[in-house]
Amino acid sequence: MKAMLKRLVPERAIAWLRGRESDMKLRRETLHQMRRFRRHYARRGSMRREHLETRIMFFTHQIEKGLSHTDLRYGFGKGVLGQMAPLMEALRRTDPDAARNGVYRTAVSALHEYRERHEAAGVDLAYMRRLFDDRVWDDLTETDDRTGGVLAVRAADKRGNASLTFAQLMESRHSVREFADLPIAAADILPAVETAMRTPSVCNRQPTRVHIVTDPRLIERALTLQGGFRGYPTPPALVLITADNQAFMNQDERNEGYTDGGLFGMSLLLALEERGLAACPLNTMLPMRRDEATRRLLGIPDGEFLVMYIAVGRFRDEVRTCKSQRFAADDIVTVHA
Ligand SMILES: Cc1cc2nc3c(=O)[nH]c(=O)nc-3n(C[C@H](O)[C@H](O)[C@H](O)COP(=O)(O)O)c2cc1C
Repeated sequence: MKAMLKRLVPERAIAWLRGRESDMKLRRETLHQMRRFRRHYARRGSMRREHLETRIMFFTHQIEKGLSHTDLRYGFGKGVLGQMAPLMEALRRTDPDAARNGVYRTAVSALHEYRERHEAAGVDLAYMRRLFDDRVWDDLTETDDRTGGVLAVRAADKRGNASLTFAQLMESRHSVREFADLPIAAADILPAVETAMRTPSVCNRQPTRVHIVTDPRLIERALTLQGGFRGYPTPPALVLITADNQAFMNQDERNEGYTDGGLFGMSLLLALEERGLAACPLNTMLPMRRDEATRRLLGIPDGEFLVMYIAVGRFRDEVRTCKSQRFAADDIVTVHA
């Protein structure tokens, strides 16, 4: 019966029907995905412990970024501190073991460094003291935890990168946001892209596309739209990783470009590091209008999703960067035996 129907109904009609079905599924399942996201993301005001931790990590990162600037802007981050203080008090209330909570400890450690650096420069921290309750303030005074704050990255330490093991390369790569005042050409980046071509992708369909921008005016305008690189000098090169949706065949694959592009991005970061180039991944989680403006600015084809940027340059003799403490592997692993 099925075979007979197949013979009678032309392929064009089957394709049309399948397309209609897929469009309806795309709508239904995108909405389903949206609802799951909406139920769980760390929205402002939530007192769920995981949400408090997420928001504290975000603000800890802002403090670390502020501390990483070569020209540190003393008194930076008042708004960040203002949001962090009540979150830390809330986490202390929510987690009875906050003193051993890694997120809390790292936040305290970053704030300790903020305080030390400001005090060393003779800056009056009355504005900061007013924000934090006594318990958090005591914690950040007394802590000996050094998991938060900044670390130094030195050009001299990168010379032997090509002979490091994978584990060593992973361990020593850090995002660098201030680069040497030297140009970078697309030809400097292309060998790393070649290496990253070995990144696996779904059915080997290779949706990733790489746009290399070296025009400083375009980089500046793209980063203004991006918004997460404020206060740093314009990097010499900017790579935009996208995913071409023409590589996908039905609605179930609608998010696959982000997975494949993300994998490619990590490969590229490591390949750049191996070649002694400094880099920082930058998000392209842009609201619709800035996403569209970015597409127009860089001439990105309509069919491509933006996956991430990578700022690229040469290492300065020494720069500071965020420590970006990680969870322990045990904390994220669930064994289903
Ligand atoms: C997809 C992605 C987007 C990122 N976006 C930004 C960004 O917009 N601005 C920024 O300064 N850093 C950004 N980063 C860098 C992260 O802050 C950094 O990777 C993280 O803190 C871990 O530090 P590490 O890269 O030094 O190990 C991004 C990283 C990734 C992977």
